[in-house]
Amino acid sequence: AANAMWGGRFADGPDAIMEAINASIGFDQRLARQDIEGSRAHAAMLAATGIISDKDAGAIREGLLTVLSEIETGRFQFSTALEDIHMNVEARLKELIGEPAGRLHTARSRNDQVATDFRLWVRDQADAAITGLDALIVALLGQAEAGADWVMPGFTHLQTAQPVTWGHHMLAYVEMFARDRSRFADARVRMNECPLGAAALAGTGFAIDRDATAQALGFDRPMANSLDAVSDRDFALEFLAAASICAVHLSRLAEELVIWSSAQFRFVTLSDRFSTGSSIMPQKKNPDAAELIRAKIGRIMGAMVALFTVMKGLPLAYSKDMQEDKEQVFDAADHLMLALAAMTGMVADMTANKGALAAAASSGFSTATDLADWLVREAGLPFRDAHHATGALVAMAESKGCDLPDLSLADMQSVNPAITQGVFDVLTVDASVASRTSYGGTAPANVRDQISRWRGRLG
Ligand code: ARG
Repeated sequence: AANAMWGGRFADGPDAIMEAINASIGFDQRLARQDIEGSRAHAAMLAATGIISDKDAGAIREGLLTVLSEIETGRFQFSTALEDIHMNVEARLKELIGEPAGRLHTARSRNDQVATDFRLWVRDQADAAITGLDALIVALLGQAEAGADWVMPGFTHLQTAQPVTWGHHMLAYVEMFARDRSRFADARVRMNECPLGAAALAGTGFAIDRDATAQALGFDRPMANSLDAVSDRDFALEFLAAASICAVHLSRLAEELVIWSSAQFRFVTLSDRFSTGSSIMPQKKNPDAAELIRAKIGRIMGAMVALFTVMKGLPLAYSKDMQEDKEQVFDAADHLMLALAAMTGMVADMTANKGALAAAASSGFSTATDLADWLVREAGLPFRDAHHATGALVAMAESKGCDLPDLSLADMQSVNPAITQGVFDVLTVDASVASRTSYGGTAPANVRDQISRWRGRLG
């Protein structure tokens, strides 16, 4: 039998395979709440402008609430023959209230309807990402505060470079996640315009009030061009791009937690609540959550690439290709929120091992740069010569199997006679980090300043 919604010109119904490839109800039922919210705003506007009667609008708005409660309580029968959430909702509304249901779709198309629903959904997810990032930032600030002056090795090439403070390392991630937060907030501003009323693609001859529906749905304004309104998905691309960058940051922190929690590093101890065991090796405590967070970028960036590829080269206006937008964004959003929550829990619960961090900080000749800087400052050497002399002292310490502070003054003076006892003051890791007070540097005093700056910003 021909389709009840659009089958007027059809003698025959769709092939089962046609129905299978066409239907989106299997996934777009997640837009139910947004769809009903949009329809209720549309019905109210149609009545306010005199396009339908108040009585019909009242029945529609009331009936839609019944449909919503049926969906939310799992009593709703979704039908593949009805293709998508929009037609499923409308068909049920007709069963509930009869003839007035047929007036809801006046001056509207599924094209502006789905664009509106999806914007509302993605907007909620941008808000959720912001909330999730705020919680993660708070957890990182807690760690930074606890260890504002704890020393640890800073790495380049994963080789010991210079000592840094634990608080400084935590704050590096605070900066990254705060930028992620601002990317979601920026994207939200651009996406917050309402497509509803663009109708199929050209607008409508009915005297609708697009400002009213935009306002009712919390949008800043209606979208200015009907073709653009129904055919762009840049808001979803932007969300996925922000999600991908955030997932990259999450994966880098996750990787550090995997390394740091190993027996070889012991920089952190993950809580039991965020670790797992092995079914064969009784001693194991594995950082599975960190590993899974590290992996999430795969599907999140995959979703971004998939949707970019779907959108590329599509002519204006709507094409059914765009139905492929939703699953990608749903999946990416679900996994981003899960990863943010898991990372927040892991960071809040973990214990940084001050002693292990300090022991590692002083190995690997981590204060060699401080020695070279001392030669510049106190003995007037050009930095390149100081670098060379310090390199010779590192080689000497290495051959003696000791650290730089263990060399005697005589050893030092054999390389450069201008060296005095005072050099030993700069060879400790604590002196090293305390000296790095340049703006953005690792000194505990800077870390404390930054923590209070962030606390002030978060309120
Ligand atoms: N399910 C469709 C989608 O997700 C809704 C829009 C259908 N529009 C149309 N002209 N067939 O894109």
